[in-house]
Amino acid sequence: MCGIIGYVGRQKAAPFLIEGLKRLEYRGYDSAGLTVLQNGQFETVKKAGRVENMAKLAARKSLTGTIGISHTRWATHGGVTDANAHPHVSSDGKIAVIHNGVIENYLSIRRFCVSKGYTFQSETDTEALVNLLAYHYNKEPEPTPNGGSEKSRLFNSLRKTLMHVEGTYGLAVLCADCPDEIVGARKGSPLVLGIGKGENMIASDVSAFVGRTQNVVYLEDGQVVQLTADDFSIITLSEEDVAPVINKVDWEIEQACMGDFHHYMEKEIFEQPQALENAMRGRIADDASTARFGGLNLDVRDLRQVDRILLCACGTAWHACLVAEYLIEKYARIPVEVEYASEFRYRNSPLDKNTLVFVVSQSGETIDTLEALRESKRKGYRTLAIVNVVGSTIARESDGGIYQHAGPEIGVASTKAFTSQIMVATLVALYIGRIRDLAFTEGRAIVAAMQALPTLVTQVLTQADHIAKIAAKYKDKKDFLFLGRQEFFPIALEGALKLKEISYIHAEGYPAAEMKHGPIALINPECPTVLFVFKGEMFKKTISNLQEIRARQGPVIAITDADENEFAGSQADDVIRVPEAHDSVRAILATVPVQLLAYHIALLRGCDVDKPRNLAKSVTVE
Ligand code: AGP
Repeated sequence: MCGIIGYVGRQKAAPFLIEGLKRLEYRGYDSAGLTVLQNGQFETVKKAGRVENMAKLAARKSLTGTIGISHTRWATHGGVTDANAHPHVSSDGKIAVIHNGVIENYLSIRRFCVSKGYTFQSETDTEALVNLLAYHYNKEPEPTPNGGSEKSRLFNSLRKTLMHVEGTYGLAVLCADCPDEIVGARKGSPLVLGIGKGENMIASDVSAFVGRTQNVVYLEDGQVVQLTADDFSIITLSEEDVAPVINKVDWEIEQACMGDFHHYMEKEIFEQPQALENAMRGRIADDASTARFGGLNLDVRDLRQVDRILLCACGTAWHACLVAEYLIEKYARIPVEVEYASEFRYRNSPLDKNTLVFVVSQSGETIDTLEALRESKRKGYRTLAIVNVVGSTIARESDGGIYQHAGPEIGVASTKAFTSQIMVATLVALYIGRIRDLAFTEGRAIVAAMQALPTLVTQVLTQADHIAKIAAKYKDKKDFLFLGRQEFFPIALEGALKLKEISYIHAEGYPAAEMKHGPIALINPECPTVLFVFKGEMFKKTISNLQEIRARQGPVIAITDADENEFAGSQADDVIRVPEAHDSVRAILATVPVQLLAYHIALLRGCDVDKPRNLAKSVTVE
């Protein structure tokens, strides 16, 4: 969960490296640093804290080098200190490295390097890697013209070093002897090349350089790359040449900018109507009774054989899978199981041959979800992905899938990606349902509800001020409960996660009926409950839950589609009303209020909404 960038070209590297880090800061923000190579010397600036801290230090130096690397860190090995910030330079001053991942055998590497006379300034695993690379570099002969290897000394040294490394890495390397060359490699952490004119870049994801170039090459695990200002080449660790595929990034940098909003999270909450439109675009069949997809790589006959669906994800994406479970079972009548990806990959659960596996991931890089995908494929299951980031590792390694097209999501707390995932899941439930028992008229009703949803979400967004007032009442509470029944139970979980991850208030989500089996002991005037009170067969029972809470002086914030006659405002301490809608889309409508509630409470508590403590946007370590 770090952000790395390398630049080699004809412009000064430092400004690009700093600007790019600011765009990658959502990946980790404990410390930041850069190294440029100029006049045969490394100039390194690194500092605990945000990129801006480091940028201020860098501004005091004359950084004229046109080749450099930079890094924004989410701490794994070693605390948040200046010394542990990347880049790390080998103790002989020859090699500088930035790294995203975990070197699992770093202690044995460190012992080996110490035995060879290398010294250490930090507690990080990366410093072991850079000293080992220096050791191999110092041993590596210069390639001779007829020596059979047209690769550089540095390139060969990196390849040999990585043979001794266990763990994950997305890394970039500078060498003081090589003023025109950056080398990099990836295994388990994302790495992408930006191909410019007279300049080339390497980074953890495309947001570092979109706008400077839209031409990108996604690296695969086990690949090593050599970059100069005008060229690049890729080989595998076993020295097979790789023919690069240049992709075009499908969004502009303006989409990743904050615009008139105060925070990325606020912007992304308000982008949800558009994100929902994008998820549906081109995916409604002409007869408007079902969905259609271009990338499932699964024909109708195969799909009809499917008798079980397994959904794997982490965090918010896992909550989207729980909503998908309700939708797919309701409309497609196929048994669905939802698994935490981190559990699935080790559980070795018996799956039969007609099981279809979906992995769901906004970033497409979450290592647990990626490994669950790989485990599912290893077992021979058709494995599809629902992903937001185009060209991400999960997108490329799955057998097929569906892009969310929600646009870049920068805020660490996922919002528009979540509702977009539910929209995609609704399309999947509709599509599979309509090749089974779902009637034409029911399909039409679901399509109409989905098409009307962006407007209804816009209506809910107009309540932001009302929700901000409610937030002010409860911002100092220490505990919250979120309760919901059926498809609102996952929204209760999601609301609790949003609140805890950005405001640091303890919050728990439960099925409303479960309250009586324990959590009711928590009810007291200092523990508000957010309760989803939606009309339909659960309405009366949920009202009973509400009364049980209020009988124990628990404050209730009700989120409801009922009007004043059906649900009087006096029945709860606060009420957030959302428009009535078809069952298939109510979970999305219910989500927006809890996103806004968490956002405003966190804001009032002075928390960093976009970069909450200890978190990072993409969890690429296990
Ligand atoms: C969401 O608010 C969290 N930041 C986190 O739980 C996230 O959903 C999880 O890490 C999964 O990320 P992914 O969708 O990119 O795989």
